[in-house]
Amino acid sequence: MCGIFGYIGKRDTALELVIEGLKKLEYRGYDSWGVAAELNGSLFIEKQVGKISEADLSPIKGKNVHMAMGHTRWATHGGVTQINAHPHFSWDKKIAVVHNGIIENYEEVREFVGKEKFVSQTDTEVIAHLIGHFRQTMPFKEAVLAAIHKLKGRYAIVVMNVGEPHLIAARRGSPLILGIGKGETFLASDIPAFLEYTQDVMYLDDNELATVGESVAFFSIETGAPLEKRVVNIDWKAESAEKGEYDHFMLKEIMEQKDSILRAINQNDEEILEIAEAIKKSRGCFFSGCGTAGKVCMAAEYFFSIIANRHVNFAPASEFPIYHHFLRPESLLIVVSQSGETADVLEAMEAAKKKGAKVLSIVNVAGSTIARTSDYSLQIKAGPEKAVASTKAATSQLALLLLIAYAIRGDLQEGRRVLAEAASAVNDMLNPRFLTYVKGVAENIKNHENAYIIGKAENYPMALEAAIKIQEVSYIHAEGFAAGELKHGPIALISKGTPCISLIANDEVKQDIISNTIELKARGAHIIGISPENHEVFDQWIRVPDVGVASPLVNLIPIQLMAYYLGVLRGHNPDMPRNLAKSVTVK
Ligand code: F6R
Repeated sequence: MCGIFGYIGKRDTALELVIEGLKKLEYRGYDSWGVAAELNGSLFIEKQVGKISEADLSPIKGKNVHMAMGHTRWATHGGVTQINAHPHFSWDKKIAVVHNGIIENYEEVREFVGKEKFVSQTDTEVIAHLIGHFRQTMPFKEAVLAAIHKLKGRYAIVVMNVGEPHLIAARRGSPLILGIGKGETFLASDIPAFLEYTQDVMYLDDNELATVGESVAFFSIETGAPLEKRVVNIDWKAESAEKGEYDHFMLKEIMEQKDSILRAINQNDEEILEIAEAIKKSRGCFFSGCGTAGKVCMAAEYFFSIIANRHVNFAPASEFPIYHHFLRPESLLIVVSQSGETADVLEAMEAAKKKGAKVLSIVNVAGSTIARTSDYSLQIKAGPEKAVASTKAATSQLALLLLIAYAIRGDLQEGRRVLAEAASAVNDMLNPRFLTYVKGVAENIKNHENAYIIGKAENYPMALEAAIKIQEVSYIHAEGFAAGELKHGPIALISKGTPCISLIANDEVKQDIISNTIELKARGAHIIGISPENHEVFDQWIRVPDVGVASPLVNLIPIQLMAYYLGVLRGHNPDMPRNLAKSVTVK
């Protein structure tokens, strides 16, 4: 949610490097963008509305500087305008700021620094004026510290001060990582943005500030005292964050499920058994996550019940803190997050920690805030996921949670076998013939404005996930339901030709969901069955392999492809759905 990129170092192409870095962060926000650098002793700022990948870069050309910073925006406070784009600057044009997060007390700070100074409607502009205010009497670093002591909310900021040879970065609640090259340093909201230059990173943690110039130094925001930091080498390849032969990241990431599921289950046995033990010992085990990750958590409720005979509770992370009444030191919170930076999940973790409960996180991004601030953390190892719509992360999360359920039952190796079979089935499914077939199904329904998806048992959360995928990529109004709930209201929405997708597994509830599908058909629905076996009720059948309880993994594949093709066929960019951003770092 908003992307920040900064550069300082030996190259004089800092502005171009920042633009390239922002293009890689575009998935975090793509309303507008802007860059700042010092040119001939004054601040140069260029801001434009629209995507940076479609920008007019002529104002940047020929401006050779060694230090620059930039921002790609997902609007929160203030509409999408050139003035509201970052960087924001102080009234005297000496301080420039890029910011990811939300300043909650911006109205109070606006009064403090003087309303007449403001040109934008953003919360961020208060940071620039506040630093400018203190800078009149203090050195750069001290002025930034004094300013952020007055701010409430979440932020990652990078600050430039005309005449100062370094940038200052600070964070509380939003990500910012330093890439350490030879004679150069990068600052970015995520690692893949600078991966082609360096794999050595330094994490800026919450309540820390860094001065980034010829050398890098870290300080505590609270006390101002210097901090010791390590350089960590990241084992990611730059190509894995590129589109390669594919038109879109979304399709590339769907195809990567040919091997990402296997990587997810390739975990250290001892670690999995330890986690299984912690779950067994806990008194009150809660799952939490947002959006797709939340639907995975819901599926885990079924996995734990069916496989491990274990009761767990799910609440979406934005709702979780209200459950604090039930939390105690013996409780365990398991959070699932691709990015490891989702603000609602961090709040859920805070609520659990306040009551002394332990937190286990299942994340994709190594070194993310959620991974680093939980008591135990497992990585799904899906590799960078760039498309806003989560695909490969979801199937990897499902696979790992299913594996843990088997471990709790004392059947870790059986779990691995079941999942290896499911992974190989996914590998077989993702062939050109299958893709063409699903595209054909999407062609058939692409002009409809409503679609409904039903599922039962562990495929009920997958129906909800299917709705998210179709909504965000194609903008079709899609809704998912527990199959048996239709007759209690939603069936009134069905009329002749309404597309309805039925997610079916070869399990004990198969006959029930077939009956519910027949009920839909009787009201005129156009039925798309996703199932191992054909049935006369289906108008169109998408065949998936029979992988038993792992069926959510295979049922999601045609859903993801259908959402992708619906988006493309309706003329949208599936990688950058409107109004959305990857990594939601605001509440
Ligand atoms: C939907 C999607 C979102 C995320 C949600 C949580 O395709 O990607 O619903 O699942 O924003 O994000 P993470 O997993 O990064 O915590």
